[in-house]
Amino acid sequence: MKSREQWGSRLGFVLAAAGSAVGLGNIWKFPYMTGQNGGGAFLIIYLFFVFTIGLSVMLAEFAIGRAAQRNPIGAFAVLKGKAWPLVGAIGMIAGFLILSFYSVVAGWTIAYIVKMASGTLVGDADALGAAFGSFISDPVEPILYHALFMGLTVAVVLGGVHDGIERACKVLMPMLFVLLIVLIIRAVTLPGAEKGLAFFLMPDFSKISADMFNAALSQAFFSLSIGMGAMITYGSYLNRHENLGKSALWVTSLDSIVAVLAGLLILPAVFAFGFDPAAGPGLTFITLPAVFAQMPGGVFFGILFFLLLTVAALTSAVSLMQPIIAYFSDEKGWNPKVSAVFFGIVIFVLGIPSSLSLGIWSDFHIIGEKGFLDSVDYITSNLMMPIGGIMTSLFVGWVVADKMKDEATNNNEKKFKFLNGWLFICRFLAPLGISWVLISGL
Ligand code: TRP
Repeated sequence: MKSREQWGSRLGFVLAAAGSAVGLGNIWKFPYMTGQNGGGAFLIIYLFFVFTIGLSVMLAEFAIGRAAQRNPIGAFAVLKGKAWPLVGAIGMIAGFLILSFYSVVAGWTIAYIVKMASGTLVGDADALGAAFGSFISDPVEPILYHALFMGLTVAVVLGGVHDGIERACKVLMPMLFVLLIVLIIRAVTLPGAEKGLAFFLMPDFSKISADMFNAALSQAFFSLSIGMGAMITYGSYLNRHENLGKSALWVTSLDSIVAVLAGLLILPAVFAFGFDPAAGPGLTFITLPAVFAQMPGGVFFGILFFLLLTVAALTSAVSLMQPIIAYFSDEKGWNPKVSAVFFGIVIFVLGIPSSLSLGIWSDFHIIGEKGFLDSVDYITSNLMMPIGGIMTSLFVGWVVADKMKDEATNNNEKKFKFLNGWLFICRFLAPLGISWVLISGL
């Protein structure tokens, strides 16, 4: 067998994993979830989940991947076998489903680059809201952008782990960061922005509900890219010397910082323009063009913003696709380039109903009142990924704990202060906590 590809450096790995984590989940989903779930109190519960269960599951995935040097299904098979590879299989199915709607939304961001540049995003907040609504409900245009985005994803995956994924992340992630800071300065100085800051940063604990815990936990899993094997796959390209605990802490922290920055950008603008914070998925696409309209050089910043958001989405999308490619290459001997093109087409087709569900198919409800896109999002984020998280934690905490201890400390070469804390979370807190949130949410 050809030797397995590896990341070029520790920084390259951390940025690629952060590239996976930071995406639409942080900049598009997090602000509107915070808006729908009462603001500051949601933020606190979210951060609590991220730095306890989330961080531990991410480390567990890195350790499984590096120990096995395999795709998610193969990793569970080499480490233990029996029924465990099923966990990897569920994760891979989740990857297909998530990417299918993720690419639709990422297509919107490409469309918004074009719309910013061509000057069609003008008018007041109402006009921008109407423009967004008519764009996403169109039966053709968003699907073309979805196709374009899937094409870009396949192109990066074709470039390979080191030259494709790692190289792109190293340049573009830092740029995104800087641009967010510039935009926040504009947003928080808008008249009326302070109400948004208060909403986001001053928790109102009277708003806490069981739904909020469910939303915060599923958002944590989605945002950190955990519970479906993406981080197992990324860990499998790591060499023996990296410090896994530190890397997981870095990735988790960067992801949370970007989510908080996005909140600081979107929510003050929402209040300044008098939008409803609970408006949902349109929030980013409506509020931000309104911000750009009010700032000098708005068109320039607008184009740059949607460009970087597209890139952030792209580095996440490749991580949703890579486990599938790795599986067929490790286990079935498929040529990774052929499978990238083939599965790219499959996922594109799977995404079409998601796009149509916002327009001509909006009357079809799959789960309760939810259409196709929302249903796929719900099943993957609220069920499949948390269940993947439970199984991954149990696996590390109980089934292969000794091996995982060696993995997390590089065979006692590195001190890892939180080893026992990590194992405790994997054994008890994560499985019980996630189960409790899942059950109370049903
Ligand atoms: N974390 C990404 C985001 O926030 C999305 C993502 C990439 C993802 N890979 C994943 C979500 C794996 C779940 C599982 O946009």
